[in-house]
Amino acid sequence: MNKDSDSNHYLLHAPALATKLLAWFDLHGRILPWRDPGSSNPYRIWLSEIMLQQTTVATVKKYFIDFTERWPTVEDLAKADLNEVFHAWQGLGYYARARHLHACAGQVVRDYQGQFPNNEMELRKLPGIGPYTAAAIASIAFNQPAAVVDTNIERVMARLHGVGESGLKRRRLIADLMMKMVPTDRPGDYVQAMMDLGSAICTPNQPLCLHCPLSSSCFAYLHNQTSQLPVKFVKTVKPTRYGVVFWVENKVNKAVFLRQRPLKGLLAGMIEVPSTPWVKQAWQDTEMKEYAPKVAAKWHDCPEIVKHSFTHFNLELRIQTAQISQSAPVDSEAGFWCLPGEFPKQAFPTLMKKVIKTVNPTLLQPPVRR
Ligand code: ADE
Repeated sequence: MNKDSDSNHYLLHAPALATKLLAWFDLHGRILPWRDPGSSNPYRIWLSEIMLQQTTVATVKKYFIDFTERWPTVEDLAKADLNEVFHAWQGLGYYARARHLHACAGQVVRDYQGQFPNNEMELRKLPGIGPYTAAAIASIAFNQPAAVVDTNIERVMARLHGVGESGLKRRRLIADLMMKMVPTDRPGDYVQAMMDLGSAICTPNQPLCLHCPLSSSCFAYLHNQTSQLPVKFVKTVKPTRYGVVFWVENKVNKAVFLRQRPLKGLLAGMIEVPSTPWVKQAWQDTEMKEYAPKVAAKWHDCPEIVKHSFTHFNLELRIQTAQISQSAPVDSEAGFWCLPGEFPKQAFPTLMKKVIKTVNPTLLQPPVRR
């Protein structure tokens, strides 16, 4: 926390700041399909928050309208066929979210008689609801004071309070401040007002401070530091590792040879196309052959390189493909043959989805039931 910013001063003035912010929100808050002024429907708030987890407001709007027209209540969604949910989710990405969404609806109906629990701790027990989403639902749907901190709120708060830290330390400080600042009468609106202020006024570049209801109390504005706060994340250069995956396909039934990753370590237990180890230098053809499944067929080098970024390194994968006419029996330790219809059921990490998309994108489409 910046020494010049006296957080007690802000906390003392928190009620006055909340009044100004809420007055601004009442006039300028966004009209969004999941906002029902004067009432809140936990199902609709939950659905919107799950959709908004990795997707922008602009994209979510139409999906939200489509979902709530098709499945107006949590009971309707719980009864829906999972494949139809997947299908309606197409374009929002991150399919695990759709799977968790459906599982969560089922659990709310089964274990909570169709009523979403109204507190963060209970909400966090449900599939797909992490700490952020639980706080957002508790606050917006149930009007409970909660430390909701998304990137918009983090920026507003970092500037308002002069929080000079970065990373997790900043998140924690801001969550703490948010909890202290949030008013008891309209906590849900306060959180949404902060989000809207961050989206419309307190933007990352060239914020519109002259239109901001909080500028006269804002540390960054008063100290001319809006371009320095929040402190930018300094990116370190990640090393690159190289690997080669071996895609063996049975020409007749189109089965592909896959294996499960070790149960410990990176992408533990997930399903992959067999590969060489991931090493610091690009593989030479002669060396990589040692790791290729032994098949009586010619290997072809796929022209595309699959690139993926992990937390600590970037990965570049070459793809070798081979077609055989009969699936050789395999011991279950080495892997298994996966028919096209079985692909959507496999726990592929994003990296492998990129590999599959490169070789045969149709394998990833969930089957549509008509
Ligand atoms: N991002 C996450 N939740 C949101 C909400 N309720 N309104 C606007 N943007 C959001």
